[in-house]
Amino acid sequence: MNRIIVAIDGHSSCGKSTMAKWLAREVGYIYVDTGAMYRTVTLFAIRNGLIKNKTDNDSSVWIDEEQLKKQLKDVEISFVLNQETKQPLACLNGEIVEDLIRGMEVSNLVSPIAALPFVREKLTMQQKQMGEKKGIVMDGRDIGTAVFPQAELKVFVTASAEVRAMRRFKELQEKGDQNLDYNEILKNVQERDYIDSHRDVNPLRQADDALVLDNSNLTKEEQNKILLDMFTQAVDKANQSA
Ligand code: DC
Repeated sequence: MNRIIVAIDGHSSCGKSTMAKWLAREVGYIYVDTGAMYRTVTLFAIRNGLIKNKTDNDSSVWIDEEQLKKQLKDVEISFVLNQETKQPLACLNGEIVEDLIRGMEVSNLVSPIAALPFVREKLTMQQKQMGEKKGIVMDGRDIGTAVFPQAELKVFVTASAEVRAMRRFKELQEKGDQNLDYNEILKNVQERDYIDSHRDVNPLRQADDALVLDNSNLTKEEQNKILLDMFTQAVDKANQSA
């Protein structure tokens, strides 16, 4: 039985990671959340004073690109498995930073970091290496277009911005975040959509041969069933042409 590469791309907060993780466990593949990798670089930049909002009222940011480029050479991003939950946890130079990279500060600054060509180059290279042996489900924005254009299954996931903002709101609420503003979250979702799909290098774009999965009105079970059907068909096709 051939092992394949599954590339799952789509807008932020559309449940990509949850479904990608579910599929990987269901079929025994490795799961890689590439958004976590861009978030980890963002945390590194924040900690080292290499990125800041220009003013409190201004959403534009200042980045010390020269320093970040230099220091990025020594940044190692990896994942470890939580032994109890079996969930992957992102690490920055060996330190588990999973919770830190999910907060609003990193969420608000990650898109400009992900738009930097030298950041994308480093992470794309690492991601390609992770998929050398296939048997991998990777989710992100450019997996089907730039990281694995040869992937046997490409899925483009989407949902309306309002549905996505409400999901994010509930997710943060469940984590105990007290000062939540739905409109701020919606604005963050819309801003990220804009930056992710308008950047020069590898913007978010549906690959020509990707299958679209709009989950605005789907339950998790319905969505997972559609995804598993897509996977089974892609594996059958790969086996037939082997
Ligand atoms: O999926 P996420 O929300 O955790 O992604 C965080 C940010 O990283 C988001 O602004 C898009 C960006 N990203 C990217 O540009 N390319 C990827 N392959 C994955 C994420």
